Amino acid sequence: MTNKFDNKVVVVTGGTSGIGLATTKAFAAEGASVFITGRRQEALDAAVKQIGGRVTGVRGDMSRLADIDRLYDAIQQKHSQIDVVFANAGGGEMAPLGTITEEHYQSIFDTNVKGVLFTVQKALPLLKDGASVILTGSTTSISGTPAFSVYSATKAAVRNFARNWILDLKDRRIRVNAISPGVTDTAGLDELFGGGEQAQGTKDYLASLIPAGRVGQPEETAKAVLFLASDEASFVNGVELFVDGGQAQI
Ligand SMILES: NC(=O)c1ccc[n+]([C@@H]2O[C@H](COP(=O)([O-])OP(=O)(O)OC[C@H]3O[C@@H](n4cnc5c(N)ncnc54)[C@H](OP(=O)(O)O)[C@@H]3O)[C@@H](O)[C@H]2O)c1
Repeated sequence: MTNKFDNKVVVVTGGTSGIGLATTKAFAAEGASVFITGRRQEALDAAVKQIGGRVTGVRGDMSRLADIDRLYDAIQQKHSQIDVVFANAGGGEMAPLGTITEEHYQSIFDTNVKGVLFTVQKALPLLKDGASVILTGSTTSISGTPAFSVYSATKAAVRNFARNWILDLKDRRIRVNAISPGVTDTAGLDELFGGGEQAQGTKDYLASLIPAGRVGQPEETAKAVLFLASDEASFVNGVELFVDGGQAQI
């Protein structure tokens, strides 16, 4: 521990599980005050208890603008500025073209695209000049997966937000980068793959396709997020950083 994020205020949406939880732990271990969100109060309470330190849970659905407002109101009551926003809340479901419903489209786009957009836009009044914004993309932003087109399209949109927002935020020296995990062992992934042995079988198969020979751990993505959030990445702007064992490069 180096206390690299001492006195920094960090927002992690979707901080109760998987990549968001691992990243919250890593920021908290480096001294940051972290505000996390999630829709389930129980999961939020459990995460706050597990991490300890300066972690505050604010229940909210990031696809709802009023909930995002509540998040920033809660932060403003304690802090005058935000140093880092990790817009990470997201998820998806499988549906091949031909079976896609309006509800499928709306639920995934609302969380993954609308949620990310307004999480960042509504942070702007509190964001410090020179702050770092990190958006969670996915290797699916640049590749095809059967039955996963809607989710993949949201992640391509997220990746392009980063390209454009570095121009909109240029005068404030706010850096915006996308982090794109490959197959990463989380509760969300297990649920997507049907849980239990079925999920394990799918993960084992996918691991055999990854140059690193295994799936990733959420802590590995967390380390890359902390790099992008830190001064060590002071000239890294608008990139998509893949944390995927090489999968997106082959
Ligand atoms: N795992 C992978 O293989 C993988 C690969 C590439 C990209 N990703 C991306 O990484 C991010 C995190 O995924 P994960 O695998 O860590 O998933 P996870 O274990 O399911 O965690 C998702 C987190 O986001 C929260 N969340 C979901 N929808 C939300 C919403 N509308 N509003 C607020 N919070 C919400 C969840 O809490 P609640 O359910 O309580 O709301 C939870 O805290 C997602 O954006 C995902 O698309 C994951």
